[in-house]
Amino acid sequence: MAKPLNIGMIGYGFMGRAHSNAYVQVPHFFDTKYTPVLKAICARDEAKAKAFAAQWGYESIETDWRKLVARKDIDAIDICVPNNLHAEIAIEAAKNKKAILCEKPLAMNGAEGRKMVDAVEKAGVANTVWYNYRRIPAVTLAKRLVDEGKLGKIFHYRAKFLQDWTIKADLPQGGQGLWRLDINAAGAGVSGDLLAHCIDTAIWLNGRMDTVCCMTETFVKERMHNLTGKVEKVGIDDACIFFGKFANGSLANFESTRYARGHKALYTFEINGENMSLAWDLHDLHRLQVFDYRDEGKIRGWKSVHVSDNSPDHPYMDKWWVPGLAIGYDASFTHQVADFLTGLDTGKPASPTFRDALETQLILDAILDSAKSKKWVEVPKV
Ligand SMILES: NC(=O)c1ccc[n+]([C@@H]2O[C@H](COP(=O)([O-])OP(=O)(O)OC[C@H]3O[C@@H](n4cnc5c(N)ncnc54)[C@H](O)[C@@H]3O)[C@@H](O)[C@H]2O)c1
Repeated sequence: MAKPLNIGMIGYGFMGRAHSNAYVQVPHFFDTKYTPVLKAICARDEAKAKAFAAQWGYESIETDWRKLVARKDIDAIDICVPNNLHAEIAIEAAKNKKAILCEKPLAMNGAEGRKMVDAVEKAGVANTVWYNYRRIPAVTLAKRLVDEGKLGKIFHYRAKFLQDWTIKADLPQGGQGLWRLDINAAGAGVSGDLLAHCIDTAIWLNGRMDTVCCMTETFVKERMHNLTGKVEKVGIDDACIFFGKFANGSLANFESTRYARGHKALYTFEINGENMSLAWDLHDLHRLQVFDYRDEGKIRGWKSVHVSDNSPDHPYMDKWWVPGLAIGYDASFTHQVADFLTGLDTGKPASPTFRDALETQLILDAILDSAKSKKWVEVPKV
């Protein structure tokens, strides 16, 4: 019999739904020693919390997250709220000895992130940050190929995350749905929101980043604030471009914007090694593009690998359908829950832990420092 893991989730927006779906799916597809139980959903609006609980099968609701994290019948707190609330909730949850699954970015900045790492490590509670792209099978396969040394010496890592939803100058900032434009809720703009994912994948695949040089732009300087009703300065970066150098000597080239007309969520990365290059595109997420220089010359070229074989060759896919059938974005969250539960059982924590995610936070601090100072900045060690 699997042991129950009673989940208390805070926030019922985009991620609240993505995570709830993952908790429901896991026991149907994965054999884990723990089974998530949807014990309580917390939201400030009681009626909305009740409606969400009914839709997803949560047993109870709370309207104050402090009450939720103190509840004896909750084992794990899932933080699905805007970034400015992550630290306070996580630190309180750690004091209450709860396991914690926290949305990305870990924190508003590195200093806050360090306090969160200290809190979970002092309390000795299991912890993870939802950098879910690591668990898209094609991305996990890229990690395996890199770790097997197939690429040889790595020269370049480039990533982009492009969107276009904030181009309208009369779009307000702040409040429900628009907190990402409010510096006080988000901590940063596209850097913390989008590049955080690109950086997490990059350091996972290619190791530590040592130095960075960055440029940011805020195209729309003032927006009406939904919470104050006043036109206020926009504090976030609308676009962010940075270069850097990894500890293995390879060069980093990253770009993110919400002003790339026509792009909704174009997350792509490419990694070039002496023997092999790999490329991935979120819009075609089940494919990994592979170029192997050691292939026979007359048939050498880019291969498009459909990562859907249900053999151990293709990560996670043996848990799903028959070969050739794709799974989607949602499955990355299911995989993260499955790995987190396995980590609880084996005592070997699933990555990224808070400590792993702090590395991304320190790179984010460094790029924003560089954009301000117009100088190269060294990334401090975790
Ligand atoms: N891993 C990913 O791919 C991914 C994708 C989107 C968002 N995120 C992260 O997830 C977090 C939430 O983003 P989202 O897109 O789900 O936002 P959202 O706006 O869709 O939902 C946020 C939720 O938080 C609730 N909330 C706000 N303040 C609260 C409080 N004091 N108490 C209880 N509930 C409160 C809101 O009512 C809402 O339900 C952010 O940190 C974001 O960066 C991660």
